[in-house]
Amino acid sequence: MRASVFASVALFAASALGGVLSPSPVEGRELKISRCDVSSATLPLPAPGTTAIAAPNVSVAKPKFIAVGLGVQNYTCNAATGTYTSAGAVASLFDISCLASSPLFPHIQDIAFALDQAGPIAAKTLEAILGAVCLKLGDHYFVTSPSGTGISPKFDFTKSMHDSNAFVLAARAGGVAAPNTAEDVDWLQLSNVQGALAKFVYRVQTKGGQPAKTCAGTEFSSVPYAAQYWLTAVSGFYA
Ligand SMILES: *[C@@H]1O[C@H](CO)[C@@H](O)[C@H](O)[C@H]1NC(C)=O
Ligand SMILES: *[C@@H]1O[C@H](CO)[C@@H](O)[C@H](O)[C@H]1NC(C)=O
Repeated sequence: MRASVFASVALFAASALGGVLSPSPVEGRELKISRCDVSSATLPLPAPGTTAIAAPNVSVAKPKFIAVGLGVQNYTCNAATGTYTSAGAVASLFDISCLASSPLFPHIQDIAFALDQAGPIAAKTLEAILGAVCLKLGDHYFVTSPSGTGISPKFDFTKSMHDSNAFVLAARAGGVAAPNTAEDVDWLQLSNVQGALAKFVYRVQTKGGQPAKTCAGTEFSSVPYAAQYWLTAVSGFYA
């Protein structure tokens, strides 16, 4: 296990460094953070044509940022039904746009998740690689919904982009069960409600994050997960 984890670290680092050595940075204010052009990258969807997630119309909404998110999905127990309900999430979002053409790309979230779970040394190594090489784009967390009731997901790049409008507060537009295992959180399409960062946010290639099937009382559960987040832009956003 340990050997394979560190082999993964080495591969991940080599791949990440390879990406950074040959980036094709996009023009404009995004130059404040180092990124590669992903406008022609293809969003992975479970089964094209049969999914509740609508693929972005690339002639109007091109991929702009691709991040690996690493964090937790939180749940509170609904005592009446004995099942967990979502209570938001907290994740750090690291830029993986320069890895989009790497053979490792579809597996980045699995590698990140495995390293994060493999113990303190692997997790520290991962943090160093992601933070130094992949660059932290921002944070994903939940805030009170604009209506005043419930919570809404927010993707906040205001620090890395030095721009108070570089965020998107979103609402769920569609979702589908993750294709691989029941332990992975759903793949989602979220749509912009506020902010200038992106029109749509897709959560795909999920790893982990599902709560236990049943619960009791007022239990709280915080379940580690990783996922790819694809942010797509249209004119008027960071396009
Ligand atoms: C995508 O958007 C373009 C421009 O608005 C439109 O002409 C085209 O029909 C759209 N395609 C789909 C599949 O919706
Ligand atoms: C989620 O749980 C973590 C602890 O695992 C906590 O730090 C975080 O504040 C919680 N976030 C929300 C929105 O409940």
